[in-house]
Amino acid sequence: MRVLITAGPTYERIDPVRFIGNHSTGKMGFALAEAFADRGFDVLLIAGPVHIVTVNPAIKRIDVVSADDMYRAVMQHFAESDVAVFCAAVADFTPTVAADRKIKRKTDDLVIRLKPTQDIAAAAGRQKRQGQFIVGFALETDDEEANAVDKMQRKNLDMIVLNSLNDQGAGFGYDTNKVTVIERNGRRTDFPLQSKTEVARRIVEAVVEKLA
Ligand code: C5P
Repeated sequence: MRVLITAGPTYERIDPVRFIGNHSTGKMGFALAEAFADRGFDVLLIAGPVHIVTVNPAIKRIDVVSADDMYRAVMQHFAESDVAVFCAAVADFTPTVAADRKIKRKTDDLVIRLKPTQDIAAAAGRQKRQGQFIVGFALETDDEEANAVDKMQRKNLDMIVLNSLNDQGAGFGYDTNKVTVIERNGRRTDFPLQSKTEVARRIVEAVVEKLA
């Protein structure tokens, strides 16, 4: 079985030295890559700019920078994947133009125009064929479950992992996470606050159970 995983943030170029990014560290996605590899999957990890090394020979890694790079890498490999897990914190907007030269300091306001990026998970959802299984992540601050379920349906995902920003010790930068797994049939499972390694193992079990 082959699994494709996206992880980490994306960096959207403003000029040669500046970018728009986010606080994702990639820890959850990399933990998932290890957990799927331990379960015997061939793993393709498509990673944004992160500071994590991968040594496991069962994990093939493609490093990307921007949302557009990640989109293209995913589109190239999605068809050959049995499972896809979209764990990356992809930028929703990117500058309409990246300046060739470093933007100089000025006293006036600086306006950077942004355009929407491609929704990678939704694009995969549109291409999904029979037998492929797609997992998304949702990071919500309010109406958490309703928003997560809506996202799962809108993007044609089979399972969504809800991260709550309201939970202490969970989310960006922490080594622990507290998630709820919601399946297409409405079943939901709350996991306690655990290491990301353990959370990853439980998510892999939940996916494998569905593939059986
Ligand atoms: O819509 P929202 O960004 O909250 O959806 C989160 C889910 O969609 C995550 O699985 C994330 O990896 C994925 N996503 C994506 N491409 C985007 C935005 C989100 O794959 N441009």
